[in-house]
Amino acid sequence: MLIQFLTLFPEMFTGPFSYSIIKRARDKGLVTLEMVNFREYAQDRHLSVDDTPYGGGPGMILKPEPIFKAVEDVGAKTGSKPYIVLTTPQGETFCQQTAVELSKLPHLLFVCGHYEGFDERIRTLADRELSIGDYVLTGGELPAMAMAEAVIRLLPGVLGDPQAASKDSFSFNNGILDYPHYTKPVEFRGMIVPAILLSGDHGKIETWRREQALLRTARRRPELLSKIELTVGEREFLKKMGLI
Ligand SMILES: C[S@@+](CC[C@H](N)C(=O)[O-])C[C@H]1O[C@@H](n2cnc3c(N)ncnc32)[C@H](O)[C@@H]1O
Repeated sequence: MLIQFLTLFPEMFTGPFSYSIIKRARDKGLVTLEMVNFREYAQDRHLSVDDTPYGGGPGMILKPEPIFKAVEDVGAKTGSKPYIVLTTPQGETFCQQTAVELSKLPHLLFVCGHYEGFDERIRTLADRELSIGDYVLTGGELPAMAMAEAVIRLLPGVLGDPQAASKDSFSFNNGILDYPHYTKPVEFRGMIVPAILLSGDHGKIETWRREQALLRTARRRPELLSKIELTVGEREFLKKMGLI
């Protein structure tokens, strides 16, 4: 997969994508990341990428010309048409399902805004406008990195155990939260690993994990339960706990 980022600050991407699992994915050629500074496409001698808003008001607005030119040039150079994601707090909220959808595409291009945001005409370039939540950051770099990270770890071969991602929250059992995990030692500061996990009975362990995931989801994110089919037994279990 090819993921490109149109940004004014390409150096910001170096750290987060140079370690651990993402670094290995890049080294193995499972994903290629390219950062393109759209200031290189500015047309005046000051290399301006922003200007004051028509109608007045605070802040500077990203001009359309450099971003349109950069998108066109990137498409021409790579020979493939990228799926263009505009980072904006006004977009649809990014979630695991979006990550799954994006991970199936061969070529993504994230456009990172800055200052007061984009000239409205830039929106016409986007296949999708995505937000990472209802808060406002200074730029689209961190949102683009977060979304790209979530996508890259889903690519085949990136995680050591191919089952791992399907057991994570929002993927586990069709969209509920993950169950509690424990590792050695059995006892730590008076806190003891549940005996069932030491029993070696895999059937019982699976049932316990499903119950724990349901309990956790019902307590923390009850709205997620409506997305899954509960068995009669599970419904009774949650009722008994006073959670539905
Ligand atoms: C200061 S913000 C502009 C916010 C804009 N004036 C608004 O209220 O919608 C600058 C840039 O940061 C990025 N950004 C900020 N918060 C974001 C979020 N929650 N999700 C995605 N991108 C975000 C976008 O690229 C945005 O153009």
